[in-house]
Amino acid sequence: MAIPATARNRHKELAQQIRLHNRRYYTQDSPTITDFEYDQLMAELLELEQQHPGLCDADSPSQRVGSEPLAEFTQIEHEKPMLSLSNGFSEEDIADFDKRLHKQLDIDESEVFDYVAEPKLDGLAVSIMYVEGELRYAATRGDGRVGEDITHNVKTIDSVPLVLPSAAPAKLEVRGEIFMSHAGFARLNEQQREKGGKEFVNPRNAAAGSLRQLDSRITATRPLQVFIYSVGVISEPAFAATQSEMLQRLTELGFPVCPLVEQVRGVEGLLHYYASLGQQRATLEYEIDGIVYKLNRLDWQQQAGFIARAPRWALAHKFPAQEKSTQVRAIDVQVGRTGAITPVARLEPLFVGGVTVTNVTLHNRSEIERLDIRVGDTVIVRRAGDVIPQIVSVNLEQRPANSKPFEFPEQCPVCGSVVVASGEGIIARCSGGLSCSAQRKQAIIHYVSRTALDIDGLGERIVEQLVEAGLVKDVADLYQLTAEQVLELEGFAEISANNLISAIADSKQTSLPRLLYALGIPQVGETTAATLAAHFGNLAALQNADQAALEAVPDVGPIVAEGVLQFFADQNNQRVIKRLMAAGVSYHEMTPIAATQQGELPLAGKTMVLTGTLSSMSRSEAKQQLQALGAKVTGSVSSKTSVVVVGAEAGSKAQKAEQLGVEMWDEDQLLACLAGD
Ligand code: IVH
Repeated sequence: MAIPATARNRHKELAQQIRLHNRRYYTQDSPTITDFEYDQLMAELLELEQQHPGLCDADSPSQRVGSEPLAEFTQIEHEKPMLSLSNGFSEEDIADFDKRLHKQLDIDESEVFDYVAEPKLDGLAVSIMYVEGELRYAATRGDGRVGEDITHNVKTIDSVPLVLPSAAPAKLEVRGEIFMSHAGFARLNEQQREKGGKEFVNPRNAAAGSLRQLDSRITATRPLQVFIYSVGVISEPAFAATQSEMLQRLTELGFPVCPLVEQVRGVEGLLHYYASLGQQRATLEYEIDGIVYKLNRLDWQQQAGFIARAPRWALAHKFPAQEKSTQVRAIDVQVGRTGAITPVARLEPLFVGGVTVTNVTLHNRSEIERLDIRVGDTVIVRRAGDVIPQIVSVNLEQRPANSKPFEFPEQCPVCGSVVVASGEGIIARCSGGLSCSAQRKQAIIHYVSRTALDIDGLGERIVEQLVEAGLVKDVADLYQLTAEQVLELEGFAEISANNLISAIADSKQTSLPRLLYALGIPQVGETTAATLAAHFGNLAALQNADQAALEAVPDVGPIVAEGVLQFFADQNNQRVIKRLMAAGVSYHEMTPIAATQQGELPLAGKTMVLTGTLSSMSRSEAKQQLQALGAKVTGSVSSKTSVVVVGAEAGSKAQKAEQLGVEMWDEDQLLACLAGD
């Protein structure tokens, strides 16, 4: 059946828009639409492709959303081995490299070589094979001879072309590096934190973890990028005469090539480039660990050949490692809000990578066992990715004779409760719950934090003081505090004590999403809290929900449901909630969306715009709540906008809404709507 032109055009338009937004989100890290809007574009595209399967070509964005999980990775043998690079560290090493090459090629040293200097990206090498212009497979480097088939994952990376222009060689294998930008890494870890998932130590690990997924739908959500730096197998021998020309042609075929690559002359040019990139390194969007120098002429590369497993015509000039050694003074264990026990090494302070490091997290039990770190050890500390300092190794030669292996506590060091394993045995947790003062402290810090009840002036230090003075044992105690009690604490005077008490009182009037988030229910981050609030409408309904009712909520799976159930089953938690309510903590009730009505969210089909300042919540909070009710929330007013919510000091958007005759709500109308009226 012929595909109607309208469907074809709409499909093309959607595909273009989705590609643009993919680029903005994953590569430029500056999305211009919400996840919800993006999902809608994708849903429409998928729907069209379902109606007209002919629209789904190899280049469609639908090919990037991932597919059913694989049972295991299969192996792929590289047609040409994937080599590694020899390293150089000093100027002398670089001069020697150039000299050796002249000698091998039998060319007088007075002839200055052209080189290509490329940043050495700190990610994972990939080989991508195109046959007849279509991406056929992608593989990891593996041992250089055989790698793993990661086609399903590589296809989800937005900047990897799925289809090449007709000018491409019939068979073309490109090689490059897959990596994650600093910003992408930070965002991913933030999401992981919110979900209670595992955080990654550095961008390289995050990229590796994302590529090693059997479920490519997970990879599709990860901000991976790729830069292509060379050609493997190729059916067109005259593709390029030099490395620069090769990169140029790859760019023309649509491959992403690192824009910082430069052609330079001789050792002098190399060293100049090295120094200049070294200076820019801290401000680059991604991690590089050196510069790769490549002889520009490909015929000379061929002639120079290989030694062992590295080419003679290339060299990696490494940046001096941001690593230093110091001593471990002590190993403490910290207890987090959810009871997770994290060992922390207290170090003899050292300056590495531009910061003074005194504490380094050892992540978990297996990390400390793997490194066998002991008190008194001399350790090498690296500031990886210029973010989190890390202990990379222990210098065993300098280990004191009487040192003992670190014994991971069997009991919580704060409350003495038994330590239990969770998270597939990786995470050790204190089983004391809120009877553990460390967990209590963290629970209170969470409750008062900006995205929870946002109690002004109640920072971590004051919470610690309150808990240590025995004034506050749980979040409900906050509302029993008096100014006189606060005055007793160090650093408080009458005005500041009164201010704190009134800030605490002000927090009583809140919203259900904030309250749910603030309670610190395991697995419930801000977004899940907003979804649960919209679906159950009030706390009692959520408390009464069983596993099935919870799992019926979109985006709530068995793990979140379990977390919620356990939380509300706990008698101490029940008591705290009762006391919070008795103290006057309240929220606008929302009309519950029964699980059976999921298809018909009350604001489904409505496009809304928020403008101006709201007094009862931030715009982003209002947006989250509206989205949870099914509305599409956009940033600009058009004739398609259903409602514009106008807060204080609204500007041009309100004017435009008036001109276009779009329905306008004030804050009270918004609150009434959120409450389900
Ligand atoms: S060329 C024979 N160029 O470094 C050529 N490698 O230590 C070998 N790498 O496995 C690779 N950026 O993962 C080349 N611009 C670049 C690179 C680069 C990063 C990685 C690559 C390789 C490793 C070798």
